[in-house]
Amino acid sequence: MSINVSEQEKKALYHLMEERHSVKQYQPDYKISRAELEEMLQAATTAPSAWNLQHWRFLVIEDQKKKEELLPIAYYQQQIVDASFVIAVLGDVEANKEAEGIYQEAVEEGFMSEEIKDTLVGQINGAYERGGSFARDAAFLNASLAAMQFMLAAKAMDYDTCPIGGFKREEFIDQFHVPDRFTPIMLMTVGKAAKEAYPSSRKALENVVTYNSF
Ligand SMILES: Cc1cc2nc3c(=O)[nH]c(=O)nc-3n(C[C@H](O)[C@H](O)[C@H](O)COP(=O)(O)O)c2cc1C
Repeated sequence: MSINVSEQEKKALYHLMEERHSVKQYQPDYKISRAELEEMLQAATTAPSAWNLQHWRFLVIEDQKKKEELLPIAYYQQQIVDASFVIAVLGDVEANKEAEGIYQEAVEEGFMSEEIKDTLVGQINGAYERGGSFARDAAFLNASLAAMQFMLAAKAMDYDTCPIGGFKREEFIDQFHVPDRFTPIMLMTVGKAAKEAYPSSRKALENVVTYNSF
């Protein structure tokens, strides 16, 4: 359905995408409010997900003491303690358990019949029960989409972020009591920049796009 995006709105979106960079130095005394953070999280949760299972979970690390516990786990990256918040983006490896509830809602709202719901829930459970890397791959794929939206929403509110893959996953799970159901995908720092991000370049389109077939 067309939403009639104006040229100005399109430019604003592209501007955000171009201007988002990974900021690694934050103003340590700057505190983003809980309300603003929740606005970003809300925007993140509009991301698409396979079967609409919404595989993301966000562990918000806001206490200074907790950030300090995280510091060695994230290889002493100073941004961990200087950022207003660190968001641990987790992925649900048992997201099929959400299917019944999500589709029941659709049935009640009249978007879906009971029969279609049962078929879909059966298919979803089947995919998860087959095992292999499916559940973990789905958790990484879908939660990452929400993480990207979070970073753009933060930029739209004049804050900066940095996605962080450099942390010890097992230690993180132990220290922050992450239930087995969730796997850590990435950390994201969010705060008020103290220094611009390091410049980064991108490959030319011709080096990253192939049409039709390799
Ligand atoms: C999955 C992922 C993991 C990353 N891990 C780290 C990290 O551990 N520490 C860090 O400083 N930056 C990290 N980055 C940021 C990248 O270095 C950065 O996105 C890249 O150099 C491009 O720069 P830009 O984001 O400023 O455009 C990570 C980015 C991604 C997407």
